[in-house]
Amino acid sequence: MKKIGVMTSGGDCAGLNAAIRAITLRACDLGMQVLGFREGSVGLLNRDYVNLTPKKTSYDFLMRGGSVLGCISKGNPFQYPIEDGAQIDVTAEIIASYEALGLDVIISIGGDGSFSIMHSLMKKFDMNVIGVPKTIDNDLSCTDYAIGYSSSAQVISDCIDKLQTTAESHQRVIVVQAMGRDAGHLALAGGIAGGADIILIPEIPYSMDVVASHLKKVFRSQKKFAILVVSEAIKRMDGSSVIVMDEINNRHRYDGSAAYVASLIEQHTGLETRPVVLGHLQRGGGPNAFDRILASQLGVYAVDLAAQGNYGQVVVFQDNKVTHVPMEKTINTYNHVDVYGQLVHTARGLGICLGDA
Ligand code: F6P
Repeated sequence: MKKIGVMTSGGDCAGLNAAIRAITLRACDLGMQVLGFREGSVGLLNRDYVNLTPKKTSYDFLMRGGSVLGCISKGNPFQYPIEDGAQIDVTAEIIASYEALGLDVIISIGGDGSFSIMHSLMKKFDMNVIGVPKTIDNDLSCTDYAIGYSSSAQVISDCIDKLQTTAESHQRVIVVQAMGRDAGHLALAGGIAGGADIILIPEIPYSMDVVASHLKKVFRSQKKFAILVVSEAIKRMDGSSVIVMDEINNRHRYDGSAAYVASLIEQHTGLETRPVVLGHLQRGGGPNAFDRILASQLGVYAVDLAAQGNYGQVVVFQDNKVTHVPMEKTINTYNHVDVYGQLVHTARGLGICLGDA
């Protein structure tokens, strides 16, 4: 009987539990055993797991947000944080757990960071891994969609629906800050879905003169209010990143792009402007139907790969089909928005200003 370990790594998103459910249902149907590790690789390290069965992963997993297994962003076993603030390599302990538990493969539901770690573990030890992509940022290469992205774009769209009415009532400009890390996929999709007037993404350098003149045009028309969506990773006019220091995790994170752009708009146009940071609303709550279906498809396919002993792969969604690619292909290049791609073309076709001339 094959033994599969499952973990959710990195930031959470909607659809993780739907993927856990699909993996469990398929694996148990094929006579495999499934161990769900709590808090990603930390669970494997500490041999902290739950036996997943169809009974334990009922239909409510489809609709439940977050991860029942927990997620952790700082469990890198090559640089594992210990109490005095130092970082140590615990990969030997990880592989010892993998072997002691008699695992045949780990299915990692993660993004590029998790897959880089898994790939390094695979190279260093005799460990089998299969990846299932999840990220609201949709920045993983080789897959058209990752679990969580669509639900997150839905949150942005729903929030813009609400912001349109208050912007209209007060004749204001509202600047909505979207997540997405270094890629603008989420801002672009959410902005198009919500009917934004302007969308600024890190892949397209913007000019405040262009933004200001578009806003004046919007306010001269019948519509005397406007919605901007800005990616968290857009740069300031001087080229610097809009970041804050996360003291607890000792790293920088993006924050402040909406406030920055809102203050520039007021200076350039005199229009009353408010920034809105959507933040972790974009990661919270349950998945929409698209993510439930995607998570189910990717989860079942991942188990089929495990059954065939086809390891070292990431399950991907390409051209409306589920397939797989070697893990290193997904981590070697970052998936930015294609500035000549269809979604950018669609935005321009709708008259949405992207901040460039
Ligand atoms: O990668 C997902 C993501 O939500 C990014 O869009 C965002 O920049 C980051 O994680 C936020 O991370 P944290 O939850 O650690 O603040």
